[in-house]
Amino acid sequence: MTELLSLENINTFYGPVQVHFDLSLTVGRGHIVCLLGGNASGKSTTMKIILGLVKPQSGIVRFDGQPATGLPTPQIVRRGVGSVPEARRLFGDMSVRENLLMGAFVRKDQKAIAEDLDRVLGLFPKLAERLAQRAGTLSGGEQQMVAMARALMGRPKLICMDEPTMGLSPLWVDRVLDLIAAINKEGVTVFMVEQNASLALEIAHHAYVLQTGRIVLQGPASQLRADPRIRDAYLGGQEAA
Ligand SMILES: Nc1ncnc2c1ncn2[C@@H]1O[C@H](COP(=O)(O)OP(=O)(O)OP(=O)(O)O)[C@@H](O)[C@H]1O
Ligand SMILES: [Mg+2]
Repeated sequence: MTELLSLENINTFYGPVQVHFDLSLTVGRGHIVCLLGGNASGKSTTMKIILGLVKPQSGIVRFDGQPATGLPTPQIVRRGVGSVPEARRLFGDMSVRENLLMGAFVRKDQKAIAEDLDRVLGLFPKLAERLAQRAGTLSGGEQQMVAMARALMGRPKLICMDEPTMGLSPLWVDRVLDLIAAINKEGVTVFMVEQNASLALEIAHHAYVLQTGRIVLQGPASQLRADPRIRDAYLGGQEAA
């Protein structure tokens, strides 16, 4: 397996406050990799580094065989990194269709964009019925589907998702995680931050645990599911085993 993304010895600061301490991780091509960790451990900041929204003070980001540290976000997106940001960030007054087309904004090939819209709607058939609806009037789960579909419209090699199931009902949590697995089966690599550790580890191949800016545990998802340290911290102790 080759690696699609790697972070090497990343140190990040917000002013005087250090958020990452020699953070290193890799995301294998074709994998779902999950980043777990408590509040304020630096998970969202890790996403922002990959997307070029925050610059590390030191360390290297590599994407698809090339250095990507400190590149401007549009360039990173053009190289094949898509994102489903925290809280989804749709354009609430725009239609579902307009939101989806925003995901292809770095592209100019209208015919291929139309084909991609069809392909993406094939994965999210429920959205096909909602194309004209204002995105702001959709339920939380539906909005999450739009955010994922929008990210796919950029034809990404990697999709970064920050807490994609946040605030959703248990039914929608399951649906969204199933959709993430389906997107991955289409060949898209996924790097996600997720609070529902137990469910996330069911679809993930590999996971990392971040604690106050340091990776304290990592391994194949199946191994972490059985790790007592993960069970105690994230899976509600023995009951979840
Ligand atoms: N723009 C910013 N300026 C200053 N400090 C920040 C900024 N963004 C985040 N921080 C701080 O950096 C630390 C890590 O934040 P981050 O959002 O990466 O954590 P997180 O693991 O995603 O947390 P959560 O689980 O609450 O989403 C926190 O202490 C946070 O307060
Ligand atoms: Mg966060």
